[in-house]
Amino acid sequence: MLPKTDPPLLKSKSFSDHSSSYYYSSIQTFLSTHPRSWILLCILSLQIFLLFCIYSLPVSFSFHHFPPPPLVNTSTIITTPQTTTTTAAIIKEEDETPIPAPTDGKCSDGRVYVYELPRMFNRELSEKCDELNPWNSRCEAISNNGLGRKYTSNDGRIIGKVIPDKLKSSWYFTDQFASEIIYHNRILRHKCRTFDPTSASAYYLPFYAGLAVGKYLWSDNYTSVHRDYHSVKLLKWAQKQVYFKRSKGWDHFIMLGRISWDFRRSKDNDWGSSFIYMPAMHNITRLLIERNPWDYFDIGVPYPTGFHPKNESELTQWQGFVRSRVRKTLFSFAGARRGTIKNDFRGLLLDQCKDSGNRCKLVDCGGNRCVNGSSAILETFLESDFCLQPRGDSFTRRSIFDCMIAGSIPVFFWHRSAYYQYEWFLPSEPESYSVYIDRKDVINGTSIRGVLEKFSKNEVRKMRDKVIEYIPKFVYADSRDGLGSSTQDAFDVAIDGVLKRFKAHRNMWDTKEENTTIRRKLLK
Ligand SMILES: *[C@@H]1O[C@H](CO)[C@@H](O)[C@H](O)[C@H]1NC(C)=O
Ligand SMILES: *[C@@H]1O[C@H](CO)[C@@H](O)[C@H](O)[C@H]1NC(C)=O
Ligand SMILES: *[C@@H]1O[C@H](CO)[C@@H](O)[C@H](O)[C@H]1NC(C)=O
Ligand SMILES: *[C@@H]1O[C@H](CO)[C@@H](O)[C@H](O)[C@H]1NC(C)=O
Ligand SMILES: *[C@@H]1O[C@H](CO)[C@@H](O)[C@H](O)[C@H]1NC(C)=O
Ligand SMILES: *[C@@H]1O[C@H](CO)[C@@H](O)[C@H](O)[C@H]1NC(C)=O
Ligand SMILES: *[C@@H]1O[C@H](CO)[C@@H](O)[C@H](O)[C@H]1NC(C)=O
Repeated sequence: MLPKTDPPLLKSKSFSDHSSSYYYSSIQTFLSTHPRSWILLCILSLQIFLLFCIYSLPVSFSFHHFPPPPLVNTSTIITTPQTTTTTAAIIKEEDETPIPAPTDGKCSDGRVYVYELPRMFNRELSEKCDELNPWNSRCEAISNNGLGRKYTSNDGRIIGKVIPDKLKSSWYFTDQFASEIIYHNRILRHKCRTFDPTSASAYYLPFYAGLAVGKYLWSDNYTSVHRDYHSVKLLKWAQKQVYFKRSKGWDHFIMLGRISWDFRRSKDNDWGSSFIYMPAMHNITRLLIERNPWDYFDIGVPYPTGFHPKNESELTQWQGFVRSRVRKTLFSFAGARRGTIKNDFRGLLLDQCKDSGNRCKLVDCGGNRCVNGSSAILETFLESDFCLQPRGDSFTRRSIFDCMIAGSIPVFFWHRSAYYQYEWFLPSEPESYSVYIDRKDVINGTSIRGVLEKFSKNEVRKMRDKVIEYIPKFVYADSRDGLGSSTQDAFDVAIDGVLKRFKAHRNMWDTKEENTTIRRKLLK
């Protein structure tokens, strides 16, 4: 039941016949033919409900329908980690400082082993950074361990005058697709990393799948074979590993730095790679900047933004700064009209913003003007109580996090833009930090300004406080050891979540095993 990679509802057609339009129209069609999003919610809850039911049903039933992977008994496995035949270079710690000791002294949720993959799966891709797309070099974009180029005093025009000098050094030109490098760099120094695979309960595959497919997305010269090239080889490699064979992938995880749909190609001529659909991927947990909400193995993590505090003190200063901002504008919208799309929703928001006079501030992002997270956007978010966050080409956008880091309250029109995405990182009550306005109401003429003006000053302040409280969970620290002290950043939350999830799997299977034994005894 649970580990179906395809959402049952969407399985048949919806994601199969989209080519250059980037699955946009199919999802649109799906949504318009299923106009009530609560149905989706029901299905989702039903799946989760079933998941729990299945585990509490009699053993005989659940074992038939959902066999657990072989029990992990580390003490019986004495094989050393396999070295590959393509052994080439091995990822080494670049600095000699020891990994910080876990604060609780024991890493009670388990330890993580980081595979040393052949270079072709990571370093070689990032080293050839000028070949990552056909237009320009991405070397600067992925420099600084994925954070990108630092702002300098020459960037005054870009960073703007609003940010106090001492906080400017926490800002970078970060690429929204750089997470594979950020995560790899951080996990090498995670406090629960182990160099001994026999003592690990989680195995990280530092494969830059997004960079690998990104190279081949933009030219007709390339075929699906190119787009799957690295993925196919990686899985061949993984399947030879003893720890992978042992668990059938259940205790393995990976970070994919693009949205889930970029790895879910079902027909040769379509967009993206078919990595997630490859059989060996079935049980591997994937961290993604946008997940498929119907896939248990997809986990949504925050997009990397430009803000990377070095320590807790910088973070606290920033929180104080955004809290003290005088917000002159009720709401803002940073986006562009999609001329080619009929009844473009963003066009409607643009019009509403224009019609709201000085209650709304518009940043026109036509012609890629917003790709760098320009100062205009940051300043706008810092001055507005609310920011409008429609879907873009996909359901999520980096702008959601740009907005919240500036202490602005997001307004969503699709549940899948955030509520079904970033569970580990956002408050569990959507209304505590955000506003939801159904897109159909907007199409029907509901005034966004009208809805937002109904919130009292006090309600707005409460929501903003909630957003600001959660900022640590949306940032990726500019330090290989995180923010320090007890504050978790987005990376820490993600890894913690994975370790807890794998521990829950183990506990579930252990209990099952015990019960089977008891049952057998009772039956005798
Ligand atoms: C995934 O796990 C299930 C349950 O343990 C197992 O039956 C299946 O073979 C695994 N899939 C792969 C591709 O290893
Ligand atoms: C694990 O292996 C050890 C040593 O071989 C054995 O004593 C123990 O019973 C095993 N545990 C399980 C759950 O199979
Ligand atoms: C595609 O191939 C043609 C002919 O070999 C070549 O001229 C062109 O530069 C290639 N385009 C890209 C983006 O590689
Ligand atoms: C935080 O980092 C900044 C910049 O490196 C440094 O000046 C400051 O002393 C640090 N604060 C603490 C509490 O470590
Ligand atoms: C983004 O920033 C870089 C500087 O790092 C600049 O060269 C580039 O032109 C900018 N792109 C846009 C679209 O503003
Ligand atoms: C749109 O408005 C009309 C009339 O005001 C109403 O009958 C209809 O139900 C509305 N449709 C939606 C989807 O809200
Ligand atoms: C195992 O059995 C115990 C008591 O016999 C029961 O409380 C527990 O819920 C069972 N666990 C599972 C996962 O079936």
